[in-house]
Amino acid sequence: MNRLSEIALKYDTDKGPNCHNYTPVYHQYFYPIRNEVRNFLEIGVLNGASLQMWEEYFPNARIWGFDWNTTFVPDPNSRISIIHGDQGKKEDLERLKAEIKEPLDIIIDDGGHHMHQQILTFHELFPTVSPGGYFVIEDLHTSYSTAYGAIPGKLTAVDLTKNLIDEVQLNGRSFIGDPIKSIEEIGSGTLSFYEKFIDSIHIHKSLAIFSRRGVYE
Ligand SMILES: C[S@@+](CC[C@H](N)C(=O)[O-])C[C@H]1O[C@@H](n2cnc3c(N)ncnc32)[C@H](O)[C@@H]1O
Repeated sequence: MNRLSEIALKYDTDKGPNCHNYTPVYHQYFYPIRNEVRNFLEIGVLNGASLQMWEEYFPNARIWGFDWNTTFVPDPNSRISIIHGDQGKKEDLERLKAEIKEPLDIIIDDGGHHMHQQILTFHELFPTVSPGGYFVIEDLHTSYSTAYGAIPGKLTAVDLTKNLIDEVQLNGRSFIGDPIKSIEEIGSGTLSFYEKFIDSIHIHKSLAIFSRRGVYE
């Protein structure tokens, strides 16, 4: 069993093999950067189980948790900090960014999973991801449930993800030869923010993982 799954079982978070089993996927992406991660944010704290797992897995990271309704109080000697707020409110997400101040190496959205929350949180927080970092939308299956605001005619988190595939392809503006050279040729100033900065999108069962590119500034 991979190290992250072992720690998930220790703290009994539903990200581990007992429930969603996201940890083998996360281990694949995060293990190579485990020691370099400095700032990690998870939206959705509940009882703090996953935050404690992340603290043990990332030995040099400050672990930030954001939630509107958690009673979890971290050990004062830990590297975990809690910020209270509603991910469905732009002003709360702005306060979160102002409080953290630094770029975030990894952001995981495991909050309310409503469409408007996931979409607003992505747009507000993806720009704060550091080059080479990741933004993850968890429980993507809620995009198929009316209980989470996935109603006909309304954008879902899966729709957002599919639309962003167009941005990774530079909306078809670059199609010949080496993509980097082509971007230089068309000029990075003509690219949208997401065209410039989403390097890749990885889809797994119930997870969308966006990686941040650091060039083209
Ligand atoms: C699935 S639980 C998080 C579980 C935790 N990440 C873990 O793996 O151990 C979801 C959490 O999201 C929080 N939440 C729900 N809606 C929210 C919102 N609009 N803003 C902030 N937090 C929210 C809930 O209070 C709850 O604690």
